[in-house]
Amino acid sequence: MSQSQDFTQLIARQNVAKPQCFVLFGATGDLAKRKIFPALFALFLDKKLPSRFCIIGLGRKPNTDEEFRKYVEDKILEFARLKGDSKSRREFVEKIFYLALDIDGDYSPLKKILGEKEPSFGTQENRTFYLAVAPSYFTIIPQKLKEIGLLHDKGCASFANIIIEKPFGTDLTSALALDLELKKILFEEQIYRIDHYLGKETVQNIFAFRFSNHFIDHLFTSEFVESVQIVAAEDLVVGDRVEFYDSVGCLRDFCQNHLMQVLAFIAMEAPSRNEAEFIHQEKSKVLRSIKKIDAIVRSQYEKGYINTDAVHGYRDDERVKNSNIDTFVGMRLFVDNFRWGGTPFYLFAGKALPRKYTEVNIVLKKAPFSLFPQSSQQNIISIQIQPKEGISIIIRTKVPAKTSLKPVKLDFYYDDYFSSESIPEAYETLIFNAMSEDRSLFTDRDELIASWELFDPIIQEWKKQNLEADEFYPAGSWPEIMKKVFLEGHYLVI
Ligand SMILES: NC(=O)c1ccc[n+]([C@@H]2O[C@H](COP(=O)([O-])OP(=O)(O)OC[C@H]3O[C@@H](n4cnc5c(N)ncnc54)[C@H](OP(=O)(O)O)[C@@H]3O)[C@@H](O)[C@H]2O)c1
Repeated sequence: MSQSQDFTQLIARQNVAKPQCFVLFGATGDLAKRKIFPALFALFLDKKLPSRFCIIGLGRKPNTDEEFRKYVEDKILEFARLKGDSKSRREFVEKIFYLALDIDGDYSPLKKILGEKEPSFGTQENRTFYLAVAPSYFTIIPQKLKEIGLLHDKGCASFANIIIEKPFGTDLTSALALDLELKKILFEEQIYRIDHYLGKETVQNIFAFRFSNHFIDHLFTSEFVESVQIVAAEDLVVGDRVEFYDSVGCLRDFCQNHLMQVLAFIAMEAPSRNEAEFIHQEKSKVLRSIKKIDAIVRSQYEKGYINTDAVHGYRDDERVKNSNIDTFVGMRLFVDNFRWGGTPFYLFAGKALPRKYTEVNIVLKKAPFSLFPQSSQQNIISIQIQPKEGISIIIRTKVPAKTSLKPVKLDFYYDDYFSSESIPEAYETLIFNAMSEDRSLFTDRDELIASWELFDPIIQEWKKQNLEADEFYPAGSWPEIMKKVFLEGHYLVI
């Protein structure tokens, strides 16, 4: 395919999704109300939903279509980025139908409703099934859909794809087992594994920033880069979801998936085509080039102060009073390939830290010798994912009338160039891409398994060990153990 064809395909990606029926398992759940319905409504307002389209929401609770439509409208008003007006909300919810169906039960009512709605909406038997339910249901639903004939075979003119929420396994063994089960039922191209980080505009922009600005990508090598530092810091304690959090911890909740995906975008080679298969191959190669995690620390927050507010420690919650779970993880690793060999990648993620931000800092090497009095600050390319999305480059400039240098920032912020309304939520992008059969922003099997292989030995080791006294940090501060292991002798941007 030529470059111009690639470009045409990129533009095509931005049009309208294909005619289809969107079948949402878990339609009465938390994710559906806060993310999925608001995202679908934004796509509707943006005219990205096809005219031949309907939604079937599934849950256990009894609801009539009208009751459920009212519920969705209320949730749009409560949670959506774009709330539209009453006319647009009505037009949207009229495409929604509700079916009470037990996941473990008989699927013939689902087959029946699809048999009615598909011809009347002209959706051509194209189906996107979204599994917004507990991971224990990730195999049973496809299995039952297959048994009743709702999944099309390979080569069929219509599609039947499945979006699977995270977590995809809780360790290597469970991820492999889930993969094996799904493989018996689905082909890889039917599976859309969500990592909502990939739906973030700024994460996608890493790809565009590198590969559409050749001089930038030229700098992304161990020749120029001293270190890459990826930080995802939250300034909140865990809160109500503590029981869920305690079953995963920071390493599994954040690092194994989101941070490794960001790392893959930073370190990958340009794919030979801007298409899912080629992008996945390059990302997999990066993850496979990491032989092991060079150094890793975990830590858990104790009581402390976040922005002058006193907060409880993690274990102060009765439900997790003996927990050894990690609320902070810091690590160093190396991508052992020709481009990156020798350059440390630092990854830090955690809760109850001094401030909330997610960014990637690419710290560039100093000049071989200085003609000017040294300034301690190095050149940094900083990609800010949140809260203020943008890209900055720190360079040095001469102070007027002096011979000394001062670091200054070349800034690009999304707000300055694009209206905030034009920046879609991650779920909008991901749902639209899945509905358009574009898998490039979904995690493929090889990436996922490569990442689990790296972290599984650590997860198993940590399970056996209680936290030591030096593995706690007062909420609102950076863990001392992280500073001890990573800060000494290194320049870290935290
Ligand atoms: N919530 C989030 O922010 C978030 C973020 C990332 C990933 N996720 C993932 O998304 C998935 C859903 O999470 P959630 O927070 O939305 O869960 P949730 O609020 O507990 O909702 C679960 C949904 O599953 C339905 N359900 C449960 N058992 C069922 C059964 N036997 N038959 C039919 N329906 C059944 C529930 O229906 P009824 O209510 O009608 O019983 C409900 O709609 C999970 O895999 C989670 O890990 C969630």
